[in-house]
Amino acid sequence: MTEKLPYSVKFHPSDHAIVFAGSLRPSGKEELDPIYSCFSEALGEVSGVLYLNLKRLRQLNHTGFAHIAGLVRNVATARSDLKLKLIVSSVIPWAPPRFEHLAELWPNVTAEKYDRAFYPGQRVIDQDDFIPVLKSQNQLLWSHEKEYLRIHGLQSGMRVADVCCGTGEFAILLRKAFDPESVVAVDHSRRFLEYATNVVDEFQLDRVEYRFGDATHLLLLDDSFDFVTCRLSLEVFDRPEQIVRELFRICKPGGRVYVTNELMSHALGYPHEESIEAACHGLVGMFQQLGMDLDFGPKAAVYLKDEGLDDVRIDVIEINNTNSDVEEFVQVIESWIDVISGELAAATNQSAQAVEKMRSGFEDFIGAMRHRRGFAGWPIYIASGRKPDS
Ligand SMILES: C[S@@+](CC[C@H](N)C(=O)[O-])C[C@H]1O[C@@H](n2cnc3c(N)ncnc32)[C@H](O)[C@@H]1O
Repeated sequence: MTEKLPYSVKFHPSDHAIVFAGSLRPSGKEELDPIYSCFSEALGEVSGVLYLNLKRLRQLNHTGFAHIAGLVRNVATARSDLKLKLIVSSVIPWAPPRFEHLAELWPNVTAEKYDRAFYPGQRVIDQDDFIPVLKSQNQLLWSHEKEYLRIHGLQSGMRVADVCCGTGEFAILLRKAFDPESVVAVDHSRRFLEYATNVVDEFQLDRVEYRFGDATHLLLLDDSFDFVTCRLSLEVFDRPEQIVRELFRICKPGGRVYVTNELMSHALGYPHEESIEAACHGLVGMFQQLGMDLDFGPKAAVYLKDEGLDDVRIDVIEINNTNSDVEEFVQVIESWIDVISGELAAATNQSAQAVEKMRSGFEDFIGAMRHRRGFAGWPIYIASGRKPDS
């Protein structure tokens, strides 16, 4: 029966989430049976928190709302041990205030409005086009970063959290190279997590777990990880201090928080240095328009110190065409060109001419990498700090 309905509802046990999608405009109770079954399945399995994710609903009528509200009321009163978190979007304009009203009625119900503007840059990052960016960057960075992770204190047998894990490559590489006790990886992009989970299943890797979550409000316990990583993500989120606070909170006393960020305006290359410089600066400007700071690299250490971490150490990974695989480096830049000409140009209202200039600058960057006498460099800053013993 579910296939014929214009909406879908599914319980995802690993996320503690009931996810709705499509058009929920029932004319009779029988059309709502899958929802009731889904709730009873979820309630039999979850403890702590249950997410009711309604953000992919495109349409909802009053009957649909009334039944969901009734279920929320039943759960809120019968299961006071459970936090019920409603995630709604403004696609159905009248719905958020009504769901928010439900949250006012019961202390164990909260409503969070999810929009593509969860953070200003999300529109550009949370895209299929971004998957090749993350994959190729991780491939290029890993051979360098593996050694730096050791230098910054990562050892086998540790409990590791990778916050803002993206498509999950890093968690997998780390699991294979460092044999941690476990890796818990969290991100706010369902599409990246789906990708990551498929890879882990395919590789049959244990001790890696991906979870949906907001890095500024992690559902992870205080003082529970030996090593907490957050790579290339403080630079894209517009309130980095809120993420750093959570990285600190979940780190064990004596453990370390490790972050990486770019200094994009210092990427450089020759020949054609001017065109390359203009492209890199242009990219920083476009990201800036969306509340992101691609020059966050050298600033991160201060955020770690401000939060109370000590023994703060900084290193710079200078990726260049002499110390890295040139074709892997080329793939990274090609993936950037795709994003620039697609969603990024649209989100920042670039003229066709400006996009073309930037594309040509990054093609020169690729040319510099492959040139017999050329040079191309891209600096990534690492900062890590130790959580003091309490
Ligand atoms: C540039 S990507 C880096 C991903 C990954 N760390 C890597 O190096 O491949 C930034 C990631 O941060 C995630 N992100 C941004 N803000 C977040 C937040 N508040 N909570 C959870 N994830 C967030 C995005 O969904 C995205 O996957």
